[in-house]
Amino acid sequence: MAPDATTATTPSSPARPPRVTVPWVRSRKVRDGAERLVMVTAYDAPGARVAHDAGVDMILVGDSLAMVVLGHPDTLSVTIDEMAHHVRAVARAMPAPLVVGDLPWMSYHVSREDTVRNAAQLIRAGAECVKLEGGRKRLPMVEALVDAEIPVMGHLGLTPQSMHSMGGFRVQARQSEAALALVADAKALAHAGCFAIVLEGVPDEVARMVTSAIDVPTIGIGAGPGCDGQVLVYHDLLGLEDRTPAKFVRRYADLKAESVAAVSAYAADVRSGAFPARSESYHLDAEQSEALSLYGSTTG
Ligand code: KIV
Repeated sequence: MAPDATTATTPSSPARPPRVTVPWVRSRKVRDGAERLVMVTAYDAPGARVAHDAGVDMILVGDSLAMVVLGHPDTLSVTIDEMAHHVRAVARAMPAPLVVGDLPWMSYHVSREDTVRNAAQLIRAGAECVKLEGGRKRLPMVEALVDAEIPVMGHLGLTPQSMHSMGGFRVQARQSEAALALVADAKALAHAGCFAIVLEGVPDEVARMVTSAIDVPTIGIGAGPGCDGQVLVYHDLLGLEDRTPAKFVRRYADLKAESVAAVSAYAADVRSGAFPARSESYHLDAEQSEALSLYGSTTG
């Protein structure tokens, strides 16, 4: 899709701008007639170009970077400097989708000052907003960021940075009390100025309650079809991973298998001498070739 492609419009939901903006995303509620938002993660310039050419609305430079690119078992090891490095790579592609920089664990847990400084590092690297995990206990940080003119996306439900306190990657808000607490968290984040909220790993019914309780869009991952948008991890949707995917992942390609087949074919061609071919090599022109063969015959 062309970079300036627009999505469905209605009087209450304006056309997508050539470069997606935070106010445009904030206005995209399905109940107001908006088309669902599409977000995908990316961690480098080629990934950003794929997302741009596919016409998605937002690119999340997620802290899933730790797991799908850097090889860590969870997201806790990635640092703000590593996140900034990858945000910079994505931003260099100058994609039309909004670039969301994910604040890693411990970059927004210590103080408001620390939070703003770390978020500013991602903004200076090219992010147009940041995302952080957690509900009401994060309100002081959200308010500090909004005060510093840094737009914030919330993230509730299965928040991977809380894996140890949650006892693993577990679906959240399965009980009515927890579901009501999640709705209260979402309302508080929206009230504090979050322009959108990711809902991860929660029952469909709970995601629908949250979506109807707040005026900013919800973006689901493992949260059913009732959200205002969806997000998937790039490596999951392209099948670049061969780990067993979570239930909510739909694989649209099997690039790991295709990549292994392609690299195996290359290895076989090198070993047999079939690569490189004459047409894939550089050659001297006839005169230089002749001169060298004469040289070869006198010195040989
Ligand atoms: O880091 C990430 O990729 C995320 C998404 C799963 C929402 O936070």
